[in-house]
Amino acid sequence: MMPIRLLIIDDSDDDALLIVTHLRRGGLELTYERAETLGTVVEALAARPPDIVICDYNLPGFSAQDALRVLRDSGLDASFIVVSGAVGEETAAAIMKAGAHDFILKDRLSRLIPAVEREVHDARLRLQRHDGAEAALLASEERFRLLAEHVQDIIFRYRLVPEPGFEYISPTVVALTGHKPEDLYRNPALVFSAMEPEDRAPVEASWRSPEPSPLVSRWRRPDGVTAWTEQRAVAVRDDDGQVIAVEGILQDVTSRVLADQERERMDRELRQTDRLDSLGRLAGGIAHDFNNVLAVIMAYAGELTDSLPDGHFAKPDVLKIVTAAQHAAALTRQLLIFSRLEPSRLETLDLAGVVTDIEQLLRRTIGEDIEFLTLIREDLYPVSIDRTKIEQVLMNLVMNSRAAMPDGGRLCIEAANLDQGCGAPPGSAGQQKLVSLTVTDTGSGMTPEVAQRAFEPFFTTKGPGQGTGIGLATVYGVVKEAGGDIKVQSEPGHGTTITVLLPALDQQITRAQAISPTAAADGGGRVILLVEDEEEVREVVKRILARGNYQVIATANAKDALEVITNSAILIDGMLTDVVMPDMSGPQLAGRLRQARPQVPVLLMSGYTAGALPGGTEGSDALPLIRKPFSPATLLQQLQDILT
Ligand SMILES: Nc1ncnc2c1ncn2[C@@H]1O[C@H](COP(=O)(O)OP(=O)(O)OP(=O)(O)O)[C@@H](O)[C@H]1O
Ligand SMILES: [Mg+2]
Repeated sequence: MMPIRLLIIDDSDDDALLIVTHLRRGGLELTYERAETLGTVVEALAARPPDIVICDYNLPGFSAQDALRVLRDSGLDASFIVVSGAVGEETAAAIMKAGAHDFILKDRLSRLIPAVEREVHDARLRLQRHDGAEAALLASEERFRLLAEHVQDIIFRYRLVPEPGFEYISPTVVALTGHKPEDLYRNPALVFSAMEPEDRAPVEASWRSPEPSPLVSRWRRPDGVTAWTEQRAVAVRDDDGQVIAVEGILQDVTSRVLADQERERMDRELRQTDRLDSLGRLAGGIAHDFNNVLAVIMAYAGELTDSLPDGHFAKPDVLKIVTAAQHAAALTRQLLIFSRLEPSRLETLDLAGVVTDIEQLLRRTIGEDIEFLTLIREDLYPVSIDRTKIEQVLMNLVMNSRAAMPDGGRLCIEAANLDQGCGAPPGSAGQQKLVSLTVTDTGSGMTPEVAQRAFEPFFTTKGPGQGTGIGLATVYGVVKEAGGDIKVQSEPGHGTTITVLLPALDQQITRAQAISPTAAADGGGRVILLVEDEEEVREVVKRILARGNYQVIATANAKDALEVITNSAILIDGMLTDVVMPDMSGPQLAGRLRQARPQVPVLLMSGYTAGALPGGTEGSDALPLIRKPFSPATLLQQLQDILT
């Protein structure tokens, strides 16, 4: 065992020697030194820390209390024993209270031996306990270090003084920055090089801030993926309140940020769809009213044409009125299709057949200087769509491509089957089979801004009188109504590809029968019940029918029509009814007619229909329909067809 180190504070060398001799005789192994001024005490404590300080009570110039205070100030864990001549009990009590470990009278030195032994033993115990606490502290630090290194978040402490740098950063930083903690300790700037440039300044600022607020930053991970972290940090201050470091965590919030972005994108799309829908309803409403006006114009102009002899000076003018009205009718039809207010006559169609049927018409429209090809697969899945509407889609896309190639180029229509989940239009969960219809041109292409707005109704880059901007809006309306989707690929100077995706049907194709025109459309005096709420239309239709040799019973509403139907005294051969009327829909009226007189055929006239109207339009699919506006000849022909 190490000899006990004594510091004896005594002005008498003899007394000190006496104490030492006594202790050695008692079997204690020790070294000692003597100090007799406070100055030498301080110096001895600092230079050669003792195990035990033995202090005389009566000292020249300073007291035992002073010596005890010096020992306490030194921070040493040495025992302080007072050895003194006779003093009062109170004095002894005071020095014990001040922190001395024992008080021994000089004439009872025999007590000193056990006291020293006890103090040495206690000191060793204290030391052991201290070591234990130290070890426990180390173990707990190790636990925290492992914890910090195993959590997914990055834990860091960034000091600002004396020079900025990491005091600690957990190893997960490698995944985010590609740099190990050791590299970052050496070169803290590396951390910023992995961050998006715009995000560096805010992070640096937050690390100097007395109150760093939560901060989201973007990182370029070494694998090329962008990651987002949210920083939560606190400032660490010194005793003067100066910020000397920040410590906190960087949590990976990438999945949350990506989910937020996706939600925002969907919100944007929804707003865009809402806007298109409301514009569509507006346009459809206008088109509906317009169709009734056009029906009247076309009917009178048609009649006038028929009644004027060939060579009459006014005939060319009247024909121009007919042509202009037909143009206007084509336009309102576009508007109605686009607004989805035009009733759809769904057919199970083979798109290959549709393309073949209108190929000649398209070829003529496109002109000579554009190379035109079609690549259509033979075994296309069938789709369910209104034939005239999908024809309109093709026509609109082809017209746009032609307009984009004023100096010629190549135009290609392709149709193919698509067997995959991706590209499935929203709302068709699990839709696997699709038919894609693609129109590609080598024309001017579109800037991203134009491409983004191209489907907006009335958006056009063409000059006044050149385009109305409803071509693609119509395409959009038709495709959406059919549960499909549209994709645009376009680059200025590199042409445009527009892909229409339509959900495929499982059933087999039944080819629609074309209506074969019959020669003369003569009514032969048959009786037609005409139901039409618009007075002008009713009048003009009445005239057309009368001229076509029909007898007409005209009513302005379904109620009056029902009276005719249920009146067994009146015989009717057919009913011609408007689809949308205030009191009852045309199809509903047709249903009542079927109950009363099952053999009487019905022809619907429509300028417009909408599922939201009272009574709806159920059953209308099964009935023949003529679209307003129509020419007198078409009306007479269609009527003839249902009566035979
Ligand atoms: N194939 C294409 N190549 C280049 N630009 C196109 C193409 N298709 C459409 N666009 C752009 O999109 C705009 C909108 O097209 P959209 O068919 O809706 O209207 P429009 O052709 O201008 O007029 P409308 O079809 O009513 O006569 C066009 O004005 C044009 O700028
Ligand atoms: Mg167009």
